[in-house]
Amino acid sequence: MGTRKRIGILTAGGDCPGLNAAIRGIGKTALLKYGYGVIGFSSGYLGLIRNEYKILDERALSGILTLGGTILGTSREKPFKSSEYDQYVKEKPEIIVENYKELGLDCLVCIGGNGTQKTAWRLSKMGLNVVGVPKTIDNDVWGTDLTFGFDSAVAVAAEAIDRLHSTANSHKRIMVVEVMGHNAGWLALHAGVAGGGDVILIPEIPYDLDVVTQYLQHRMELGKPYSIVVVAEGLKLPPKKKSKKERTVPAGAYIANQIRKRTGQETRETILGYIQRGGSPTARDRVVASELGAFTAEMIHRGEFGRMAAYKGYELVSVPLQEVAGKVKTVPEHHPLIAHARSLDTCFGDSIPH
Ligand code: F6P
Repeated sequence: MGTRKRIGILTAGGDCPGLNAAIRGIGKTALLKYGYGVIGFSSGYLGLIRNEYKILDERALSGILTLGGTILGTSREKPFKSSEYDQYVKEKPEIIVENYKELGLDCLVCIGGNGTQKTAWRLSKMGLNVVGVPKTIDNDVWGTDLTFGFDSAVAVAAEAIDRLHSTANSHKRIMVVEVMGHNAGWLALHAGVAGGGDVILIPEIPYDLDVVTQYLQHRMELGKPYSIVVVAEGLKLPPKKKSKKERTVPAGAYIANQIRKRTGQETRETILGYIQRGGSPTARDRVVASELGAFTAEMIHRGEFGRMAAYKGYELVSVPLQEVAGKVKTVPEHHPLIAHARSLDTCFGDSIPH
C-alpha cells in the first residue's frame, strides 16, 4: 500500500436506485481528486465481517451511474445484534475492527438507512474513522432533508397510480394502492400528490374509517364514480382480536376490505412492493447521489469522521452520526405539502376536505 490512503465502502440495508451513482461519486473523487485507494465490501456489514471485498479502480467505477441496485450487494446484517445461530456471536464488532486495521483502511464509508447509520456510529465509537451516507426510498433518515432513491420510488409509484386511474375509471371502482415507506409516510404523501390520489393515509395522521367512507360516498354523489386511495405500508391498523395470521394483513388489503364492506362499492387493492425500489435511478437521484458521493470524499479528505453527509435544503452539510443514530424522520403533522394537498381536496382520513 505504501503511504497511499485507503478507504472502504459498503452498502447496507434495503437497496435503492442511486447506490451505484453514490459509489461512483465517492470512488472517483477519492481516486482521481485525492489519489486514495478504494475498496468495496460485499453484502453490507457481512463483507466487512467476512473480509470479502473488491478493489474499486477506475474500471470498476465506470459504466455504473445508471445501474439500479448495488454492484457491491447488500444485506440486513447488524453486527451489534448477536444471534444464537450465528457462528460469529458477540465478536463481530471486534472482527470488523481487526479487518479494518489489517486492510490498512483510513476510513469506512457506510451507505445506508437508519439502521446502517446506527451501526456506523457504534463502529465510530470503537475508534474507526467512519463516514455515513444516507440512502433509502423511504426518505426517513434523520438529519438529512433528502435521501437518494426516494425520487425514483416516487416516480414508480406515481406511474402506477396513473395506470390505476384509467382502469378505476373504466370499471367505476375504488382502487387502493399500498406503497412502501416503512414507518414513515413520505413516499405515500409524495406519490399520492403526484398521482392525484383522492385519499392518502399515512402513519403520521390518525385516520377514521367513517370519515374515509363518508368522503368516498360524497365523491359518488358528486358524480365521481371512482376513487384512488393511497395507503402507506406502515399505516397503523387496529389491534387484531382473532388469529395471529390476521395480524400480517398488509395495510392496503385491510383498508380495501374495510372500504368494500362500508361503501358496498367494488374495491380492489394493489400492493406495489419491490418494483418501487428496483431499476435505474431518475436523473434527480443520479445528481443527488453523485453530489453526495463527491461531498463524502471531500469530508474524508478533511478528516470529518463520525459524521454523515446530508442535505439541508439544497446545501450539503455534515451531521454527527451520534445525532442521527436511533432516530427516524417522519412527516411532520403540519408539513406544507399536507396542507396544500388538503386544499386540493385530498382527504387524509381525519376530516372531510372543504
Ligand atoms: O427501507 C426500504 C424498504 O424498501 C421499506 O420501504 C420496506 O419496508 C423495507 O425496505 C422492506 O425490507 P426488506 O427488503 O427487508 O423486505
